[in-house]
Amino acid sequence: MNSKSFVLLFIINALLSTVTAFTHHHSTSSRQNQATTTLLHSAASSTLNKPYFAEYSQTTQLPPAPSHDKSKPGHGKTAIIAGATGYIGRAVVRECVSRGYHTVSLVRNVTSASFDEALAGSSLVRCNVTNDAEVHSIVAEIAAGRHLLAFPPANNDNRATSSSSAPPIDLLVSCLASPSGIESSVYSIDYAATLSLLHAGRRQNARHFVLLSAYCCRNPLLKLQQAKLQFESQLSTQTDMTYSIVRPTAFFKSVSGQFESIVAGNSYVLFGDGEVTRCNPISEEDLAVYMCDCALEEFAEERWGRVLNVGGPDGPLTNRMLGEMMFRAINKPPKFVYVPTQIFDMSISLIEFIAKNFPSQKWEDALETAKIGKYYAVEDMLTTNKSEKFGRIRMMDHFEKIAREGQDPFTPVRATAFISKTLETLPVVSVSIPIGFGLASKPDIVENVVASSPLANVPLLVASLLGGENGGHLF
Ligand SMILES: *[C@@H]1O[C@H](CO)[C@@H](O)[C@H](O)[C@H]1NC(C)=O
Ligand SMILES: *[C@@H]1O[C@H](CO)[C@@H](O)[C@H](O)[C@H]1NC(C)=O
Ligand SMILES: *[C@@H]1O[C@H](CO)[C@@H](O)[C@H](O)[C@H]1NC(C)=O
Repeated sequence: MNSKSFVLLFIINALLSTVTAFTHHHSTSSRQNQATTTLLHSAASSTLNKPYFAEYSQTTQLPPAPSHDKSKPGHGKTAIIAGATGYIGRAVVRECVSRGYHTVSLVRNVTSASFDEALAGSSLVRCNVTNDAEVHSIVAEIAAGRHLLAFPPANNDNRATSSSSAPPIDLLVSCLASPSGIESSVYSIDYAATLSLLHAGRRQNARHFVLLSAYCCRNPLLKLQQAKLQFESQLSTQTDMTYSIVRPTAFFKSVSGQFESIVAGNSYVLFGDGEVTRCNPISEEDLAVYMCDCALEEFAEERWGRVLNVGGPDGPLTNRMLGEMMFRAINKPPKFVYVPTQIFDMSISLIEFIAKNFPSQKWEDALETAKIGKYYAVEDMLTTNKSEKFGRIRMMDHFEKIAREGQDPFTPVRATAFISKTLETLPVVSVSIPIGFGLASKPDIVENVVASSPLANVPLLVASLLGGENGGHLF
């Protein structure tokens, strides 16, 4: 096959890999974990399709009661986590439960969340976070002691009595993030929904707010960062709640996206020479500890009312190093393919041109999508300041772990949403123009890519097409 025909595939793959490589918005839908969770529990119960929790209604789950260990920092207090089914949200829920909080996970779908083992020990409460009134009423109910596991006692119908002694809302954590990064979605999720949560917390005398923000907000070229910043400024100008703004560099899962592909024998895809960007991602467990610690009095001086950059314990890792580490973890000799980062500039200029001449939201969104791809392909996500490094789990530990145990299916919601959006909003022919290659001669390739389902298979497809050219430069 002519290598030029791979160009389109590369654009798609490039977008897919970079967005999943460095974006900080990673949601793992609980459905993805359903298989694993069900398996885990099928050992104990013989029914394969049973959810994690034995019984559930549309609002509250009845898993094991939280610990009554009085020495735990969360004892007798409530923590509410929005975005609880996301990659970091799940780790935060787990951490809050282990700290003894009455932990409430706000979720979109209680049924699917009930399959997620990570949420065990928390109450699952259905909440449409984009509905301001609903957020307010649910947070008010939680403040009154409703929805809490083991509180009030199961047979206590007297809400008035229980509300007087309800555990105070000590901690509100927002792990909310728009799945697509386009304008309408970031303003409704990263800004408006998070603001509803803040207002609802203030009204109920909640104490400390922890915002999962992103390191990349320091260089806010994207709408998703601008929306986060807009919320951050609302958070920092109110005085009812103390707060911490946590800006992690990158996540482990987000740099493991090509793992299955290289296990299958493919080359690792690099941008530029593979040394364009450097990062020190932080593990979800370490980040959850960091975020929960923010609420503690002992960190008042250091972490309240502040923007906190945080990266993992590793030194600067280039993409090439990440690739080499992955190959080492699976005991295979490293092999790479290289994609020029100019691909993004070409697509961006073309889409910009179209968006200018044919103004529409669709093209604005397509443009934003292309910019997101470029941003994460060229920006460092690195902290080197000692006080901005945290945690014990190193990148290599993670690669060794997934080499042993595998990882959740690689289909981060954001990446999938992103790619399908790109395909929806970009007529195939327009993608071909900036590259200037005749797609007409290879329409079958385009159709294969568009039709491939799930879309997460695209990198595999590309890599397998490249089978004969391993290690070579394409351009
Ligand atoms: C909630 O999740 C369940 C299980 O995954 C699914 O069958 C159901 O359709 C979902 N409900 C909504 C409203 O999306
Ligand atoms: C959530 O609430 C918003 C605002 O009221 C509404 O537009 C949207 O349809 C709701 N979503 C769901 C899934 O109910
Ligand atoms: C290191 O980080 C801390 C906390 O963010 C900050 O106060 C300090 O100024 C930084 N030091 C340098 C040299 O940038």
